[in-house]
Amino acid sequence: MKKIGVFTSGGDAPGMNACIRAIVRAAVYHGVEVYGIHRGYKGMIKGEIYKMDSHTVSNIIQKGGTILRSARSKEFLTPEGRKQAYEQLQKHEIEGLVCIGGDGTFTGANIFFEEYGVPIVGAPGTIDNDLYGTDYTIGYDTAVNTALDAIDKIRDTADSHDRVFFIEVMGRDSGYIAIPCAIGGGAEIVMIPEAETSIENVVDALRTGWNRSKTSFIVIIAEGDEAGNASQVAAQVQEALPHMDARVTILGHVQRGGAPTAADRMLASQLGIACVEGLLEGQKCVMAGIINGDLVYTPFIETITKDKLINPHFVKMVNILSV
Ligand code: F6P
Repeated sequence: MKKIGVFTSGGDAPGMNACIRAIVRAAVYHGVEVYGIHRGYKGMIKGEIYKMDSHTVSNIIQKGGTILRSARSKEFLTPEGRKQAYEQLQKHEIEGLVCIGGDGTFTGANIFFEEYGVPIVGAPGTIDNDLYGTDYTIGYDTAVNTALDAIDKIRDTADSHDRVFFIEVMGRDSGYIAIPCAIGGGAEIVMIPEAETSIENVVDALRTGWNRSKTSFIVIIAEGDEAGNASQVAAQVQEALPHMDARVTILGHVQRGGAPTAADRMLASQLGIACVEGLLEGQKCVMAGIINGDLVYTPFIETITKDKLINPHFVKMVNILSV
């Protein structure tokens, strides 16, 4: 393989730049030409493809976002869009791809490989940490620390005003961000999609705390929780406990930005090299991940169809620690 392309797709995540850097430098190290494809599948279709070298990725390891830009492409979901993307790769004589993204990115990669046989190796880049085949995804550690920093600040004001705060964190359908935010942030309650939570239980827990002379509370709600979003949960709780002063904070996209932590830079660098070396060794339609310290290549189809379960004990931990 003499020429490869690299792109980021889906929601950006801190550490994507560190991963791009590792991919480009590993390619150069192994004597392979590398092309950056801008704006993910969208840019691939349009032919936004530019040559990169080791200088192109200087001074980016510490930067959030992605220098290659990112997008979610509706066109790539169509056979016509994928045909155009393939033609662009042929035009640039690109023989293999490295993608950095989450399940949407890997769903696209999987079908593209099935249809056109272009070998693709992926690095898990999403703040959600919801991908089967790796203990951690690139960006997760940074996002959790960013959220935690905000929660610490909210705790100060919650305490000063004797308030209950309902804080919504990201994670799509998973509670991976919510759990360490709740445990690390000293929350009284955590609500995640993987565990059943009723409003009655939340009300009971807050009432019990109040009767034990607690005056401020933090409730962490994963955005995908079945009970609803933070505003909906807060409204119902406020109705049942009118003496409590409730406030809502949605942390939102602040969790997606910022300089990657050391752990994310390390993971991104390790997986970036693993993607290029995997591709050169003949891997074709897989994601590189780290499980228990070992490098593992998992077929894309497994990463998108298998669930990465959360240990339910973590929810109990929040209850124990807030007694
Ligand atoms: O997948 C990352 C993520 O930030 C999710 O946590 C969130 O649900 C989603 O992306 C938001 O997507 P967008 O940036 O398109 O609004």
